[in-house]
Amino acid sequence: MDDPIIRLDNVEKSFGDFRALKSISFDIARGEFFSLLGASGCGKTTLLRILAGIEQPTRGQLTIDGKPMAGVPANQRPTNMVFQSYAIFPHLSVRENIGYGLVYQKISKAEAKARTDEAIELVKLEGLGDRSAHQLSGGQRQRVALARALVCRPKVLLLDEPLSALDKKLREEMQQELRSLQRTVGITFVFVTHDQEEALTLSDRIAVMAGGKVLQIDTPQGLYERPNCLDVAEFVGTMNLFPAKVTGVDGAKAVAAGDPSGEFAGISAGRPAAVGDTVFMAVRPEKIAIRAGAGQAGRNQVAGRISSVSYLGDRSHYLVAVDGLAAPVAVYLSNLAGQGMVGTPGADVTLSWDETSVLVLDRA
Ligand SMILES: Nc1ncnc2c1ncn2[C@@H]1O[C@H](COP(=O)(O)OP(=O)(O)O)[C@@H](O)[C@H]1O
Ligand SMILES: [Mg+2]
Repeated sequence: MDDPIIRLDNVEKSFGDFRALKSISFDIARGEFFSLLGASGCGKTTLLRILAGIEQPTRGQLTIDGKPMAGVPANQRPTNMVFQSYAIFPHLSVRENIGYGLVYQKISKAEAKARTDEAIELVKLEGLGDRSAHQLSGGQRQRVALARALVCRPKVLLLDEPLSALDKKLREEMQQELRSLQRTVGITFVFVTHDQEEALTLSDRIAVMAGGKVLQIDTPQGLYERPNCLDVAEFVGTMNLFPAKVTGVDGAKAVAAGDPSGEFAGISAGRPAAVGDTVFMAVRPEKIAIRAGAGQAGRNQVAGRISSVSYLGDRSHYLVAVDGLAAPVAVYLSNLAGQGMVGTPGADVTLSWDETSVLVLDRA
């Protein structure tokens, strides 16, 4: 990437013998909304703290805005952090809390006031400037924390699960606001979350992390359509997995014999498959067609029996038991005009899908 705002080059972090981050290398573009996504304990906060300068890498290089960050303390970096636990002062007013972000900056009183007013407006807290922070709702407190970080006009805003304490409805509202705020100010956001839906909704690109490693970096669509390993496929959305053994390879295309039944053809999305490999043939639930009646098993086609149907208004979710498969196959159907129900629990059905919808995957 040309002139990235952030460059990580083989960054590692150990706490004693424990390797919390293992050889992390990637770039973040200027103005990007970039998310770190992964289960609790995978190293997201540690990576964010290294960007902020609160933590030092054990090995490797971090460059921000073209400058190596080794030895640069947190308060001299062009970054600001919004913490998971807002960390605002309850006894101070909204305005005082936000202005606190400016105490280390050498600017005039008038400039400080103008910037505080601007930040209050950005996060939609107009009229609440003099209110004491302990009189605010959770959502409003989060806005104060955001404004306090923005008032310094950082080049990079680091956000550590900032919405996780909010209830679902408020969280979804704040997601939309955060995204439009980021577009307005044009600052690079590095956003940490363990919530895949949140990451997909907000981000230009997402780094999926597990066990201190980055498994894949891609756009939301790229991660969903082309996960490069089983771990990413299972973490982002729902994936049906058919165990199989590869019998033929032609470029990126692989044919595999299903265990216990059926034959599959699909595309290698990660490591190229080789004949004899034990793999999983992976298909998303909405790519599967379902029709009534037990058809013949064939290539990319299996017979099964409906075990449950959930009607969700715009769509229905089916679970279909297939002989020999441990987990039922999930099938999502859109309830389009004129498209009736396929069947009720107990009914025999045939599932089929296109080979361009099948990914050949194994573990990272
Ligand atoms: N200061 C520390 N000392 C020892 N272990 C730590 C320290 N900070 C984090 N860890 C460990 O590093 C791993 C990653 O932690 P963290 O980055 O907080 O994960 P996440 O934010 O993804 O939940 C965890 O196993 C955590 O216990
Ligand atoms: Mg964390």
